[in-house]
Amino acid sequence: MAESKNIAMGPSRDKLISKTYLSRATEPFGTDALNTLLAACRHSNGLEQVTGALLYHGGYFMQLIEGYDDAVERTYARITSDPRHEIISVLFEDEISARFFPDWSMGFRVSEDADAHSIDAIYETANRSAARFPINDFLLLFGNDSG
Ligand SMILES: Cc1cc2nc3c(=O)[nH]c(=O)nc-3n(C[C@H](O)[C@H](O)[C@H](O)COP(=O)(O)O)c2cc1C
Repeated sequence: MAESKNIAMGPSRDKLISKTYLSRATEPFGTDALNTLLAACRHSNGLEQVTGALLYHGGYFMQLIEGYDDAVERTYARITSDPRHEIISVLFEDEISARFFPDWSMGFRVSEDADAHSIDAIYETANRSAARFPINDFLLLFGNDSG
């Protein structure tokens, strides 16, 4: 019997997905708290081969995580169970053909006031149509120097 044929039907380790959510910090994060959070994220994302980018602005987080689907789901489960924030909505989740942030275990930016309308626009566009996450606007907020 060719039993091995069915192995390919199991959870696929080669399916890359990307997920982006918006959340509200339960209490405002200062620099120390953000650095502590980032160190923990980067450590566990390194183990999970998860990459992505995190934006903090005025008490809100917007975070994109990407990687193999099982790793992304485990990571997202850790994120949702962290009492330091509350998820407002998942803005985007889909299969991707390549990573947006291949070199970043978690890029990070505290956004400036000038970016506030960009974040609002990303949120509104994504909320209007989950199929049209404005990834380019999100990438632009990170420039080239946040790894
Ligand atoms: C805004 C935010 C972003 C987070 N991002 C990640 C992440 O990228 N990867 C991850 O593994 N956990 C992430 N977490 C979850 C925390 O890192 C995790 O809950 C914390 O390190 C405690 O984990 P432990 O108690 O399992 O050690 C995030 C939490 C918050 C509040």
